[in-house]
Amino acid sequence: MILLQTPAEASTWCQARRDEGLTLALVPTMGALHEGHLRLVERAAAENDCCVASIFVNPLQFNERSDFDAYPRDTERDARMLGERGCDMAFTGSIGDFFPGHDDPATIERLDPGPYAEGLEGAHRPGHFAGVRTIVERLFLTCRPDRAYFGQKDFQQTLVVRDLARTLGFVQIVVCPTVRETNGLAMSSRNARLDAAARAEAAIIFRALDAAREAWRNGERRRGILATVMRDVLAGGTLAVEYAAVRDPENWQADDPADRLERAQALIAARAGSVRLIDNLRLDE
Ligand code: PAJ
Repeated sequence: MILLQTPAEASTWCQARRDEGLTLALVPTMGALHEGHLRLVERAAAENDCCVASIFVNPLQFNERSDFDAYPRDTERDARMLGERGCDMAFTGSIGDFFPGHDDPATIERLDPGPYAEGLEGAHRPGHFAGVRTIVERLFLTCRPDRAYFGQKDFQQTLVVRDLARTLGFVQIVVCPTVRETNGLAMSSRNARLDAAARAEAAIIFRALDAAREAWRNGERRRGILATVMRDVLAGGTLAVEYAAVRDPENWQADDPADRLERAQALIAARAGSVRLIDNLRLDE
C-alpha cells in the first residue's frame, strides 16, 4: 500500500487509476483505526478495483478543542492496518493542504450541512455537520470515487453525506453495519479513552437500543414510548445522557412524540466521564 502525504498527490494518483478505467472506492477516516473502519475497507476493496482511504483529523468538525487535541493519532500504524486489509492507497495532509491558503481553520468557509443536520447530533454539536460536509465534499472532489463507504454507527452523518452525494451527482454512498465489541458497545476511536470499568458501563447504550427493538417487536409504534423505554434502561446506569430519541429514517424532520411510526431508527448520545459516545439501531428490521 502506498501512503501519500498530500491531497494533491492523492488526486493525481486517483486520476491515473480512473484513466486506466478502474473503479475507485473511498473510505474517509480520521485515523485511530479499529475493526469498524477496517470492515469498511475490506468491503470497499472487495467491491471495487481500487480502494483508497483518507486519514485526516478534521478540525472543522470538532466543536470542543479538547476533543480535537485528545483525538488519537498514529498514521504509520493506521497505514499498516489499511495495507493488511486490501487498501491500495492512503493519504493525509495538513489543513492548508486540503484548503490551500487556509492554515487557520477559522478562515475556511463551511458548506450548509443541509436538512439532515437538524436535531440530535446537529443540535448537540453546533457546526459539526457543516464541518463534516465541507471536508467530505473536499475528499470527494479530490478522489472522485465511484463509491464511498460509511458506517451506520454515525447514522445522521450518513444522511448528511447522502444528501451531499445527491448534490454532487458522481458518487454512490454505501452504508455498512456497525461493528460492536462482544458486550454490544459500538467500536469507536474514543473507546481507547475508556478504562475497563467505563467500557462495561458504556454497554448500557446498546442494552437501551435493544430494549427499544424488543418493544418494537412486541408491537409498540409510538415514538415517545419507544424513547421512554430507552431512557428507563439508561436511568439504571451512570452515563450522562444527551439524547435518547426515535426518528423515522425516511422522514427525518418529523419529531412529534405522539407519532406512530412505520420505520424507526433509535439513536442515543451519552457521556462516560469526558468521553462522548453515540450509537443507533434500526428497530424495524
Ligand atoms: P471516523 O470517526 O474516523 O469514522 C470513519 C468511518 O468509519 C465513518 O464512516 C464511521 O461511521 C465508520 N465507523 C466508525 N466506527 C464504526 C463502527 N463501530 N462500525 C462501523 N463503522 C464505523 O466519521 C468520521 O471519521 C468523519 O466524520 C469523516 C467522515 C472521516 C469526515 O471527517
